[in-house]
Amino acid sequence: MTAKRTGVGFRAILSGTGHCVPAAILTNAELERRVSTTDAWIVERTGIRERRLAAPGEKASDLALVAAQRALDAAGLAPEFLDMILVATVTPDRPMPAVGPTLQAALGARCPALDFSAACAGFVYGLSLARAQIESGQAQHVLLVGVEVLSRRVDFTDRETCILFGDGAGAVVLSAVPAETGRGLLHTRLGADGRFADILRIDADEGVIRMEGREIFRHAVNRLTEVIEAALAETGWSAADVNLVVPHQANLRILEAVAKRIDVPRERIYANLERYGNTSAASIPIALDEARREGRLADGDKVLFAALGAGLVWGAATLVW
Ligand code: UT7
Repeated sequence: MTAKRTGVGFRAILSGTGHCVPAAILTNAELERRVSTTDAWIVERTGIRERRLAAPGEKASDLALVAAQRALDAAGLAPEFLDMILVATVTPDRPMPAVGPTLQAALGARCPALDFSAACAGFVYGLSLARAQIESGQAQHVLLVGVEVLSRRVDFTDRETCILFGDGAGAVVLSAVPAETGRGLLHTRLGADGRFADILRIDADEGVIRMEGREIFRHAVNRLTEVIEAALAETGWSAADVNLVVPHQANLRILEAVAKRIDVPRERIYANLERYGNTSAASIPIALDEARREGRLADGDKVLFAALGAGLVWGAATLVW
């Protein structure tokens, strides 16, 4: 990749968004037939009604490709102008090679491409990585994709986890604009605490998700509140300034608890987990694309992203749309 400019005074806007979810729907009613649970319990404790399941043979790179093409179309950008492809995933097609180069070839792009793993915080970590590429002048356009085929990693006899997760892909194109426009990513703040690695994990020998749900829930509410408050303060915004929060979609009760603590009205928190469950790294870009297509984002709106995932890892980002 060639450096295009010295990088002074550029910001990263989200110039295009897109998403792709598999066609097959797994409803709570179907899960009632598989494990000892009820639709009423799942809706009350999580807010989830259904999730999408990849078809046999449908891979992360297949979903990523469609989401990426939609984001590029929305940006009006041809793939050859991409300077970097970043793919956040914990469910790549295979251990090696990464989804990134597979996607690069399928798109007809020529830029460097890689995967990285930050579980459900993958998209927010990716915003920080992409922003650094753009602000340092190394890239003008970066494609960031969050994609998961988590259904392959779910134990469908474990009622605590099989109700939560789903498959899908979301993508954004980040593009450099002069900082004077006032638009784009203003701040990203990341955190990690590996002491809690075991509370949400996929062990190599077992190969399926294991989770201490209550512990994750507690960490999610506390860490998300802290990181959002820090990101807002460092950006110079108050909670009242934020037009839309697009959080990781894990559990509606987590979103409501965080909204209450940071004092943002529930209507300003975008939620679509009712239809997709938790799609890990894909959840924020899917939600963002739906919010944009529904007309929930106007030029100049102040947008906040926040996520926590296995690691533990977490982060928040502030952006002027
Ligand atoms: O992106 C990060 C990924 N993970 C998460 O965000 C998960 C965070 N955690 C959660 O979303 C929630 O902890 C769960 C939805 C997993 C569980 O909800 P909860 O309100 O924390 O339930 P609990 O673990 O405190 O369990 C309450 C009861 C238990 O029964 P007993 O011990 O009170 O008799 C569970 O066995 O609910 C039972 N239970 C269920 N009942 C019906 C657990 N799962 C189910 C189920 N259906 N699917």
